[in-house]
Amino acid sequence: MFSLRRLAAALVIATAAATSAQAQTYPDKPITLVVPFAAGGPSDVIARLLGQSMSATLGQQVVIENVAGAGGTTAAGRVAKAPADGYTLLIHHVALAAGASLYPKLGYDTNTAFQPLGLVNYGPFVLAAKNGFEPNTAAELFAKLKKDGPSVNVAHAGVGSGSHLCGLMLTQALGIQVTYVPYKGTGPAMNDLVGGQVDVLCDQTTNAIPQVTGGKVKAYAVTSNKRIEQLPNLPTVVEAGIPGFEVTVWHGLYAPAGTPAPVVTKLHGALQTALADATIQKRFSDLGTLLFPADQRSPEALGAYLKGEVARWGEAVAKAGVKGE
Ligand code: MLT
Repeated sequence: MFSLRRLAAALVIATAAATSAQAQTYPDKPITLVVPFAAGGPSDVIARLLGQSMSATLGQQVVIENVAGAGGTTAAGRVAKAPADGYTLLIHHVALAAGASLYPKLGYDTNTAFQPLGLVNYGPFVLAAKNGFEPNTAAELFAKLKKDGPSVNVAHAGVGSGSHLCGLMLTQALGIQVTYVPYKGTGPAMNDLVGGQVDVLCDQTTNAIPQVTGGKVKAYAVTSNKRIEQLPNLPTVVEAGIPGFEVTVWHGLYAPAGTPAPVVTKLHGALQTALADATIQKRFSDLGTLLFPADQRSPEALGAYLKGEVARWGEAVAKAGVKGE
């Protein structure tokens, strides 16, 4: 006897069976890992390290796709709308949280559009300048910014990017304005800082440490609450005279919301294998970035962390009176 109820039940069973079968064979084609900034920057470097390891674990190619724009929200929007099948992933950082308040027409809800897979790393920024920039200490830099702020060109990777948020917090603390120069990522921004085309850049340690130790740029301070062992002579911004100043960048790995649980489990497991890899741990350590403790690496922990950061940056952005395009 035909009934709508029986048809609906049959459809539910068939869909569940199809999802389960898909999850069992997952992954059976290459996976795209979307990076919200240009190649060569800190997010790209971390994505490639993770991608290489996860590819070996999952037995499928992990293809890095750099999708820059709008402080990292263009990439987030791309993944938010991708099929929830585990073949399109997103690595993102603090900009994903801040973007929720900076961009009124995102086209996705930051807190519900993604399936968190796990927290990856966190660390400070380095306040750096082109060689030849006259200030030699952080205090001299702050004095220069207070005196000539509007004529100082400060690079960033788009409104809401980590480098932009760091610059924003600094200009807020000093009560000044500067001239911002946007790039598609701090990879190209750092190239221009090394080349002297731009004056100042607040960049993640992962990108800054090699340039500072190589003498390619000047460094003034780190934005953590204590000095970092890779640049032990660099004071914190607090030591340099701005009480309570701390800006941290953190990366998380995401899939689109609705990704089947067995696929999430496989991806989460491959991420944990990558984070346990001694080579990756050494590389992260050399680049001045830290891994989250093991008890903060569940998908749920990333979801809670993201929600907290969305709220926190919402307050900071409102206070700064800044909006993205
Ligand atoms: C990058 O990877 O280019 C940076 O993370 C961009 C930024 O957030 O400043």
